[in-house]
Amino acid sequence: MSLWLPVLLALFISVLGGLHLLGAFRRRRPKEPPLDKGHIPWLGHALDFRNNTVEFLQKMQRKHGDIFTVQIGGYCITFVMDPFSFGSIVNETRSKFDVSHLKKQLVARAFGYHCLENERKSLEATNKHLMGDGLVIMTEAMMKNLQKLMLYSIGTVKNQKEWQYDGLFHYSSNTTFRAGYLTLFGNETVKSMGSKEKAEEFDWVHSEELFNEFRKYDSLFPNLVYAMLPLKGKLEAERLKRLFWNVLSFKKTMQKDNVSRWIIDHLQLRQEQGMAEYMQARFMFVLLWASQSNTASASFWLLFFLMKHPEALKAVKEEVEKVLKETNQEVKPGGPLINLTRDMLMKTPILDSAAEETLRLTSAPALIRTIMQDMDFKMPDGREYALRKGDRIGIFPYISVHMDPEIHPEPHQFKYDRFLSPDGIKSANFYKNGKKVKYFTMPWGGGKSMCPGRFFATNELKQFVFLMLVYFDIELVNADKEILPINQNRLGLGIVHPTHDIQFRYKLRF
Ligand code: HEM
Repeated sequence: MSLWLPVLLALFISVLGGLHLLGAFRRRRPKEPPLDKGHIPWLGHALDFRNNTVEFLQKMQRKHGDIFTVQIGGYCITFVMDPFSFGSIVNETRSKFDVSHLKKQLVARAFGYHCLENERKSLEATNKHLMGDGLVIMTEAMMKNLQKLMLYSIGTVKNQKEWQYDGLFHYSSNTTFRAGYLTLFGNETVKSMGSKEKAEEFDWVHSEELFNEFRKYDSLFPNLVYAMLPLKGKLEAERLKRLFWNVLSFKKTMQKDNVSRWIIDHLQLRQEQGMAEYMQARFMFVLLWASQSNTASASFWLLFFLMKHPEALKAVKEEVEKVLKETNQEVKPGGPLINLTRDMLMKTPILDSAAEETLRLTSAPALIRTIMQDMDFKMPDGREYALRKGDRIGIFPYISVHMDPEIHPEPHQFKYDRFLSPDGIKSANFYKNGKKVKYFTMPWGGGKSMCPGRFFATNELKQFVFLMLVYFDIELVNADKEILPINQNRLGLGIVHPTHDIQFRYKLRF
């Protein structure tokens, strides 16, 4: 018996430890938000959250009110649904709510990248290239790459004035991905290819191949992040990761022409800190995904909504033509390409509003932080809750603001002028319970980790639509029939995708 006692004791302690890890003993303490653990140990509500994030969070909100804690895959996450509390979450110091911890896990799992100790500082040091003068340079490079891609086949395709047919998602994401990739990661050199034409042809073929591989990776991404890929998917993701690490290697990138300062500085910073080159390539893959995935799908939605709403398309077309005329430019056969400057892009309030409305309808990031210490959380209406160290706190602006009918009446409708005041300038006046809402849309996240590429991304979207409208007549093939359901599996991750592509046609206007 004396021999068995320690064994039984050890077994008992392991079972208790296991149950603790599964969250079985978690109880709501005084002052804490309502706790809902779900019925499955450890997993909790993971499946409901993953399968239909919107429905699940709305159900919890109806049951518990605008703050509640749910167990999801071993973690307790406190969701705050009150938009007036968002500021005190996204702007809280990192010693209380930290975003790096979760991002580290995500980039390691999805891209094989292991962060630097001072990753955040390095990220912030390079943000200057995505604004101010750096942004002007990148916007100009994007404009050239977009036009090259859009007009590449002109002169080689017969009957250019005939309608060309394509899937709109395919066309838009292909064009913006390839132009964005070439703008950030550079062009093939004339020296290595022998001539300008050959270098351009290489860029054309290479960026097309890369786009096809990127689409495959991007479609695996949601399940990869949630560690729900079956073996076949895992193997494919591994193959694709290796392909991108190779294409984006330090050596290959440094041999290119016109690599953006943003990319060069990131590489140099990591080089100076002694990071191995294979790890730098993995980081390049992180940047490729962050810069291209959302932009590519947002470009599709913007063009889709415009084509679906003829009054919106007409208003944006008129604005585009006015801006073109003011700079004495005209598109004509054999004439020069358009010089679409950043200044011109700042004179398009209608297009700005349509782009913001598109992001309101299609961006659904879940913004989640780790709670770093036991603390009290005060809501603006005076309620106070205790939060536990090690838990997470999250907001989901898609439900709390984007789709709130009080803040945005008829929230499921695309209203291209929703963000315009009656005198035609940008409007930021949105109210709930008679109080002005500061965070009335949050496609870029918030606080210090807010998307640093937001100005460039907005320019990319506007450039894409501007040039499409200037160069082409465009139409949906079945404009009346199509309503496009969204694919649920991207809710929480950024811009949603449609469940299927939709046909459109385009032909040169000149
Ligand atoms: C429509 C396009 C885009 C959308 C909707 C978008 C949205 C977002 C969101 C929601 C985040 C997370 C913010 C947070 O955690 O608070 C993020 C992070 C980031 N985005 Fe974007 N983004 C877009 C385009 C871009 C572009 C074009 C670039 C670069 C040129 C870029 C670079 C980044 C980077 C580097 C981060 C990580 C920031 C950090 O951890 O501090 N994004 N983006």
